Amino acid sequence: MTFIEGNNSLLTAETNTIITDPMIPNLFTIKKIFWETDDTFTIEIESQDKSSFNFKPGQFNMLYVFGMGESAISICSDPSKNKTILHTIHRVGNVTSKLSQLKKGDTIGVRGPFGSNWDVTKFYGKDVVIVVGGIGLAPLRPAIYSIFKERKKFNRVIILYGARTALDLLYRVELEHWSKTKNVEILTTIDRGDSSWRGNIGVVTNLFNYIKLDALNTYSMVCGPEIMMKFSIEELLKLGVEEKNIYLSLERNMKCAIGFCGHCQYTSKFICKDGPVFNYSQVKDIFNLYEV
Ligand SMILES: Cc1cc2nc3c(=O)[nH]c(=O)nc-3n(C[C@H](O)[C@H](O)[C@H](O)COP(=O)(O)OP(=O)(O)OC[C@H]3O[C@@H](n4cnc5c(N)ncnc54)[C@H](O)[C@@H]3O)c2cc1C
Ligand code: FES
Repeated sequence: MTFIEGNNSLLTAETNTIITDPMIPNLFTIKKIFWETDDTFTIEIESQDKSSFNFKPGQFNMLYVFGMGESAISICSDPSKNKTILHTIHRVGNVTSKLSQLKKGDTIGVRGPFGSNWDVTKFYGKDVVIVVGGIGLAPLRPAIYSIFKERKKFNRVIILYGARTALDLLYRVELEHWSKTKNVEILTTIDRGDSSWRGNIGVVTNLFNYIKLDALNTYSMVCGPEIMMKFSIEELLKLGVEEKNIYLSLERNMKCAIGFCGHCQYTSKFICKDGPVFNYSQVKDIFNLYEV
């Protein structure tokens, strides 16, 4: 016999052990909600039982709006701060629109953290090139925080970031702050500029023209729309970065997030449990077949 013990725990009478059911959301309260751009907002949430929330850079949560449904959203805060966590969300459809209308004090359900992670310890002693498009900066932000925390363990750190317009650049204040960090190079570009924009215009891959890489000593993390990742990876390979040194994050429609339902299947891989972060050499055959 099994009966519900707490928020999402099951106590089995047979063994008297408590198991956690990954399908039952934990209750979280919205502490803060603010707009980053016209269509993208960040929520800060805290567990209602005040427990700390540990996660690794690149992992995601399923955020549940009661009466509406769930969406997979990457955790974008500093992994060393685990009392509250942040998610930056692009408002595209039903669940994300409803999330955008919530207020401080409202309750949401959270399942997670799920998935694989950016393991930055693999890049110790190496140059790191982070290539980001649009909302892709959110899943990479925890990895950036982790690198900055142990800055001396990495060699050069280069961030190439592209957005649609200047107003779509995320975390602008933080970007400014990061760009002043010693030994960190940040280059931004936007697809469409206006008379007030003095920076680069064009796709993110253009930014490779401004940097020189020690390719064999370079590791890269790439995150953004699939077409952007495809061309960024081509550029990295052309420059001589090895396939095994490139990591990327994939998105697919999620339902269970634990490898049961098959919604996120990507040929033989499940994005929810084998990913979302993959080494490029793991997925290159299927990635290159993807029709864009
Ligand atoms: C592992 C993982 C991590 C993710 N991390 C984030 C994150 O940090 N922040 C974030 O904003 N999103 C993230 N997403 C994407 C997010 O899950 C979807 O955008 C969300 O589920 C859409 O839900 P919805 O109910 O609002 O939209 P739906 O009602 O499902 O979709 C409405 C419309 O929007 C379109 N649409 C759906 N998704 C997108 C999209 N991503 N971009 C443009 N159009 C879209 C659909 O084609 C449809 O036409 C992540 C997805 C995965 C799998
Ligand atoms: S979301 Fe169900 S198998 Fe991945």
